[in-house]
Amino acid sequence: MDKKIKKIDQALQDYYAQEAVSKDLIDAVLYSIHAGGKRIRPLLFLEILQGFGLNLTAAHYQVAASLEMIHTGSLIHDDLPAMDNDDYRRGQLTNHKKFDEATAILAGDSLFLDPFGLLAKADLADKIKIRLVAELSDASGTYGMVGGQMLDIKGEHVQLDLTDLAKIHANKTGKLLTFPFVAAGIVAELPEKAISQLRRAGELVGLAFQVRDDILDVTAEFAEIGKTPQKDLAAEKSTYPSLLGLDKSYDILEDALNQAQAIFQELTAELQFNADGIKTIIERLRLHA
Ligand code: IPE
Ligand code: IPE
Ligand code: MG
Ligand code: MG
Ligand code: MG
Repeated sequence: MDKKIKKIDQALQDYYAQEAVSKDLIDAVLYSIHAGGKRIRPLLFLEILQGFGLNLTAAHYQVAASLEMIHTGSLIHDDLPAMDNDDYRRGQLTNHKKFDEATAILAGDSLFLDPFGLLAKADLADKIKIRLVAELSDASGTYGMVGGQMLDIKGEHVQLDLTDLAKIHANKTGKLLTFPFVAAGIVAELPEKAISQLRRAGELVGLAFQVRDDILDVTAEFAEIGKTPQKDLAAEKSTYPSLLGLDKSYDILEDALNQAQAIFQELTAELQFNADGIKTIIERLRLHA
């Protein structure tokens, strides 16, 4: 896993090693890129590909890197004063605190737009790349993460029901976590039925991931999460713990992870998928009260 993280980081570094238009911009982008995220989204993609018997290539690492770019951009913008107004991320100052707001906005813009070029230039069949570009755009933009972030901001200071809350989580976090599952199916050229199963597993892991993040916001310390805890309550965010309480939130997390693991068992039975790698990552997401 560590070797994979090194290679993901190298693919990111290589993209930003091209001759700079603005060195200040690249410095700001690389500050957040190298701040040490968990890289769970790219790792999910790579582990699933290997589980289906593919040998990982430079192009696969470029797909992984393009996903991590969008995710990192989403964090830079999420932390801005006009959004969640956070001072720390990944254990260090947020991008706008380290640099300034204009720089952070532009670093986010770069990280949203660059991945599509990187994907388009990867050494993969055109028909695969076109599907990846479409999926990544849907997961990231108006019909995914950005749409969900809008709902999240509008959901502050109001009492939402579970349907509304599930929609926020599915979009702001779920879709970018679903991308690695679907993308692996596309790259491995699996039958459409298997890609649908992977999409469902990704949606479940995506829900689990944001419920877990909401729980940790209440229960964890700075050292564990690298960001200021108890921010959601202060901002009167709509979260699973605020709506359902902690106990029920733990149950929902557990249930979603179990359902995802069951889908991997199906894929193992149907397509000789080796689920060892993906199962290890998913087991690490469990939290116990
Ligand atoms: C944090 O994502 C934002 C959410 C979607 C909950 P991660 O927990 O994956 O953050 P990093 O990349 O490890 O910093
Ligand atoms: C993360 O939601 C959603 C995106 C960054 C798209 P949060 O606002 O809960 O993430 P953290 O807690 O700041 O990492
Ligand atoms: Mg937020
Ligand atoms: Mg936030
Ligand atoms: Mg959070």
